[in-house]
Amino acid sequence: MEQFKGQPRLPKFIVPERYLINLKPDLNSCKFSGAVAVDLNVVSETRFIVLNAANLSVNTASISFTPGSFTQSLQSRGNITWSILLAGQIIWSIATTISNLLIWLIRGNSEESRSSGVLKPSKVEIFEEDEILVLEFSETLPVGHGVLAIEFEGVLNDKMKGFYRSTYEHNGEKKNMAVTQFEPADARQCFPCWDEPACKATFKITLDVPSDLVALSNMPVIEEKFRGQIKTLSYQESPIMSTYLVAFVIGMLDYVEDHTSDGVKVRVYCQVGKKDQGKFALHVAVKTLDLFKEYFDRPYPLPKLDMVAIPDFAFGAMENYGLVTYRETALLYDDQNSAAANKQRVATVVAHELAHQWFGNLVTMEWWTDLWLNEGFATWVSYLANDSLFPEWKVWTQFLDESIEGLRLDGLEGSHPIEVEIQHASQIQEIFDAISYKKGASVIRMLQSYIGAECFQSSLALYIKKHAFSNAKTEDLWAALEEGSGEPVNRLMSSWTKQTGYPVVSIKVKDQKLEIQQSRFLYSGSHGEGRWIVPITLCCSSYDNQINFLLESKTGALDMNDFGLAEAATGWIKLNVNQTGFFRVKYDEGLAVRLRHAIENKYLTAPDRFGILDDTFALCMASQESLSSLLTLMKSYSEELDFTVLSNLITVSYKVERIVASAVPELLNTLQLFFITPLQNAAETLGWQPKDGESHLDAMLRGEILTALAVFGDDQTLNEASRRFEEFLKDRNTPLLPPDLRKAAYVAVMQRTSAANRSGYESLLRIYRESDLSQEKTRVLSSLTSCPDPMIVLEALDFSLTSEVRTQDVALVLNVSKEGRETAWKWLKDNWEHISNTWGSGYLITRFISSIVSPFSSIEDAEDIEDFFASRTKPSMARTLKQSIERVRINANWVQSVQTEDQLVDTLNNLTYYH
Ligand code: BES
Ligand code: ZN
Repeated sequence: MEQFKGQPRLPKFIVPERYLINLKPDLNSCKFSGAVAVDLNVVSETRFIVLNAANLSVNTASISFTPGSFTQSLQSRGNITWSILLAGQIIWSIATTISNLLIWLIRGNSEESRSSGVLKPSKVEIFEEDEILVLEFSETLPVGHGVLAIEFEGVLNDKMKGFYRSTYEHNGEKKNMAVTQFEPADARQCFPCWDEPACKATFKITLDVPSDLVALSNMPVIEEKFRGQIKTLSYQESPIMSTYLVAFVIGMLDYVEDHTSDGVKVRVYCQVGKKDQGKFALHVAVKTLDLFKEYFDRPYPLPKLDMVAIPDFAFGAMENYGLVTYRETALLYDDQNSAAANKQRVATVVAHELAHQWFGNLVTMEWWTDLWLNEGFATWVSYLANDSLFPEWKVWTQFLDESIEGLRLDGLEGSHPIEVEIQHASQIQEIFDAISYKKGASVIRMLQSYIGAECFQSSLALYIKKHAFSNAKTEDLWAALEEGSGEPVNRLMSSWTKQTGYPVVSIKVKDQKLEIQQSRFLYSGSHGEGRWIVPITLCCSSYDNQINFLLESKTGALDMNDFGLAEAATGWIKLNVNQTGFFRVKYDEGLAVRLRHAIENKYLTAPDRFGILDDTFALCMASQESLSSLLTLMKSYSEELDFTVLSNLITVSYKVERIVASAVPELLNTLQLFFITPLQNAAETLGWQPKDGESHLDAMLRGEILTALAVFGDDQTLNEASRRFEEFLKDRNTPLLPPDLRKAAYVAVMQRTSAANRSGYESLLRIYRESDLSQEKTRVLSSLTSCPDPMIVLEALDFSLTSEVRTQDVALVLNVSKEGRETAWKWLKDNWEHISNTWGSGYLITRFISSIVSPFSSIEDAEDIEDFFASRTKPSMARTLKQSIERVRINANWVQSVQTEDQLVDTLNNLTYYH
């Protein structure tokens, strides 16, 4: 048995084909019992059955070779072998005799097992660390079919993974709900199984549940039997699928229903009393299913789709086949109290999870190394869907928010390649990160724009067709796209998925030539290794004047005359047109000046304005550009009104503010003035009160700008906010504080709150307690720690550990004001044991580290953090910790280079003087 310990993958001598699962959850005692019968195929002889199980106790286990299937399989083997060698009746009867003899030998010589066809294991052991269950038999199991039966018991845990309990209130009474979250590797906590994505099987489920509750699974109910307080629900057998996609939800639920154009029944389930809030997601789901059917050239594969809002949920949502589960904030939309940003979040998450029904569920990654295929693709295609449903949202510009998060993480030495080696189940969780999702989505976008939308779609449809109900690897996708496009997709894309990092492409004008060079971009400023095949797009003076080519070597040069780039001598040149490529660009000083003019004169698209800003910011952080040049560039955006560009401008302002506060605090006031002035202008244009029929993006923009002005302490904003907030306290339906303004108002209120003047804090807590809308609670939680008084920050952090805040929501308070940074770090150390016990087994623990640690900016801080975690790190957080400490060191370098920048004071004075 020992030989199975410490192995990353299960041995493959037995393959599951069909699971019959019966579960009996007890929602009061939070325990469950279950039985599973697995049809197996023994592919090579063995005395062991090795499968996954965790936190389960196994009561009985046995394997049976039903006379039908077992004899049949042996007979057919005998049949083929013997009939090839010899022919005739006599020989056949000899073969049958031998078969029967073999059956006897294999079934063991005990009288009991011989007659029943059942073998009991001689030894049953669970290796908790490896999460495997090993059954050892005293005889060799024969090649062929058998049925493994196991009875077991487990606990409905409170860790939001496996089979867990979530709680809600009904008529003032606290109730439990039983829910599953199996991805990546926790189906094994609910029933023993071959818990790997490539071990696909069909699932036939029955649940014994209290008669008055709703119980959902992947497939529709086909039979319902009532026995007093308990009912037994049998579900239709599923198509072949991976274990991580199996799901159950049992609770008191209400729903709204609609159907797609080809009759798939779609429902949104939620707590009783909230069903109207499900209507928007329902609408998006029905439209999106129709759209994906066309895009993938294949209908939705199941007879129904249920989407359920779960009150306690670790992630945003989970794409279980036919039964998608969501955090409430990602599914429910309340006309009166949800903001435009909440609406967009719902649409994005729904589209993402529904994309998985094809890409992930129907065609599944072979192993977690290819997780990015699932997540990167679903992320990309969710934008495609939303762009089609809501063109006015301009989601492809907003997509750049995804890209830059990928670029931020991948600019660290501690990043990892998209295709990442996974040795142990505990490492899987940490790779659900910005590399898999956001870099993944971005490189898919880059490829799609390189080979063209139509060709991309048709090749993709072929890929889905070829691998449906099966598994695929990254190479399989490239092969389909290569075949469809005739382009070297595999070679091109491997340079992006197998290497860590991405290039910065430098461009300069010299002697009628454009000289281009690529090298790995690293925030640390060091020069990394690597060479990418970069699809370069370049516009010169006009978007009609574009050239495209692949940059394969480290350097290249374009003769401006050859390429008809006459304007290049004087006009603007923009590389990475509309930011469809996953790389950064560094322009020489002359080109940078021309781009600034182009921005000021509004010649460039929003994505290009966004890209120029973000690249310059990154280069500045890496000490490759001066802060002066970044600030000079920022000045060109003084009339910016695009939501995505302005939001990034604000984010950059916050980061610069923090660095300057550490590096040259005496410049802080002037700097804040520099940031505030253009925001004030924008705020004046938009006004506080929403205009009738105004756009979704303007509604979001107003909230962003007012929030930023509040954070920067703009008095006029703080006054107006508090006036409106007072009205809101008196009347929650006041038109003075519609949902899109609330975050700004809450943040403003917290700016004037202190230990001596706590009323704002108390009022916000009251709103939190009174509201039963998760988005409202989220808004409050994420505002509390923006307070500049560390005492209040501490109080809010402590509040987040009380039973009033669900463990799923704690991350919302972790982004604290710059004044509260030290306090938050001390709080983290003081509460580490509790935090580690409560969140340590999930992915939320990484949020504590990245949010609280990363903003620090000195070498001493980095060392202090390293010391603290030296004895406290765990495998599930090791990667995040390393990355966060690297960020602290990068900040420290940045502070140093800002301190030694001579022209900074003059530049800033000049910039503010001309306001
Ligand atoms: N498959 C994931 C959920 C998941 C994440 C399971 C991590 C296990 C570990 C799901 O499809 C997903 O990606 N959810 C996202 C939302 C999405 C819109 C990016 C999430 O939960 O944040
Ligand atoms: Zn996903």
